[in-house]
Amino acid sequence: MKFYIETVGCQMNALDSELAAAELMAAGWERLDSRKDADLIIFNTCSVREHAEEKIYSALGRLKHWRTQKPGSLVCVMGCMAQKDKDVVFQRAPYVDVVVGPGKIDQLVALVEAAAATGTPQIAVGVDRFEQKADRQTIKESFRLYDPIRLPQARQRTFQAMVRIMFGCDKLCSYCVVPSVRGPEQSRSPKEILDEVKTLADQGCVEVTLLGQTVNSYRYRENGKTTRLADLLAMIDGVSGIRRVRFVSSYPTDMTDELLQAVRDLPSAMPYLHVPAQHGANSTLKRMRRHYTVEQYRELVDRIYETIPGAAITSDFIVGFSGETEDEFLQTVDLVRYARFKNSFIFKYSVRPGNEASRIYVDDVPEEVKKRRNNELLAVQNEISAELNKSFLGREVEILVEGPSKRESRSVAQEETLYAECEQTETPSEQPTTPEGITSVGELLATAAPNGTVQLTGRTECDRIVVFNGPREMAGTFQRVRVVDTAPFTLFGELL
Ligand code: SAH
Ligand code: F3S
Repeated sequence: MKFYIETVGCQMNALDSELAAAELMAAGWERLDSRKDADLIIFNTCSVREHAEEKIYSALGRLKHWRTQKPGSLVCVMGCMAQKDKDVVFQRAPYVDVVVGPGKIDQLVALVEAAAATGTPQIAVGVDRFEQKADRQTIKESFRLYDPIRLPQARQRTFQAMVRIMFGCDKLCSYCVVPSVRGPEQSRSPKEILDEVKTLADQGCVEVTLLGQTVNSYRYRENGKTTRLADLLAMIDGVSGIRRVRFVSSYPTDMTDELLQAVRDLPSAMPYLHVPAQHGANSTLKRMRRHYTVEQYRELVDRIYETIPGAAITSDFIVGFSGETEDEFLQTVDLVRYARFKNSFIFKYSVRPGNEASRIYVDDVPEEVKKRRNNELLAVQNEISAELNKSFLGREVEILVEGPSKRESRSVAQEETLYAECEQTETPSEQPTTPEGITSVGELLATAAPNGTVQLTGRTECDRIVVFNGPREMAGTFQRVRVVDTAPFTLFGELL
């Protein structure tokens, strides 16, 4: 039996797809790169914005014919939309066989097998913490912590892996659906995490990204001792073979000095910090229920640059949140100018039913205004990204080679971003760039790779994409390159 997984959303979803694939592969299923010939099609879904959900429902609609015409075929909906919509998925797409929430991936194989054997729909989702009356422990256990199977063949690249260190979120930002669909915040034990990282290292993994909704809030208490993210980074630094560690996403108020010093001092901890600010006006931050002021965020930015020279900071922003005035928006623009982010992911506010913002505020910023603010903020950010990248011109950088560039292979490298469902991406061709940037990218992409080489991409320590020519076999190795040209989202290099 063969399966295909289609993934939208954040890195958490990318990891869940890999873990789901590993569970199926361990049970004897074969993974395919396309829907053609699949017996089972899985959609791993996102609920953060309405747009993402509508795309999934229309994709499901297009599958109806296939599912009803092909005997033995199965459709599974997993991820945040499965948790949020539950039975509604079966109502909107009655031919779906399995609905499985993000806390139930360990049950996926059993559910698929039961659906195949009985022909009846199967569902497993966590206890809704806001709707059902249940104690916290019951809710937590329903978003079950489990030790996942890690298979190198389930990963896109064997030498890079993500490791979940936390489940869920307790920050309860007023606009967000994550605390509802991913359940309460739970940290995994350091031992489990370390064992998983060692397994990955044994499989040839050299770079790991630690994942959590608020990854720097990590806290695990055992035998009177508390382990924080800084301690975890130190433990992972000792794992032989692991040369690079990053962690996403950080919550601004949980960025301790100890953590920043750990990033500065540990050789494997990379100087890259994704710390979503969300907004630049205190009034909006308050409505968003973010627990900091813009002054505190600015101090944090200062502290990061002082502690870790050359650090790259990235952020998320929401434009057009309920009640956002032009003046409030301009304060976000000011913050972007001040913080000099390497890049920012900018989202137009999307009402999520059931959360605090949907209950107490009106979605009163017109769509055209949201769009304009999105573009304006993006233009400012792009200018900064271009300037920061220009400062790399002539410099030597160490990169981890990821593989052939998008031009060489459509399915790899630059297509990934932190959020696959993002309305804008880091990809040069899709991001608005400065006119100068376009010329630069165009010229370099037009240059043919010399014989025996292909156009490759790699990433610097601070997560900048470098495009250069080299032999295909270099994927997975560390190389030194000199930066010979730059664009807002890409550096162009020559192998040294
Ligand atoms: N802590 C998580 C956040 C997940 S949601 C993480 O960074 O991994 C990812 C981003 O989507 C948020 O940072 C926020 O900028 C955006 N977002 C969340 N809810 C949104 C909504 N209702 N409308 C628009 N954007 C939203
Ligand atoms: Fe969402 Fe805020 Fe948590 S954005 S994931 S509620 S930190």
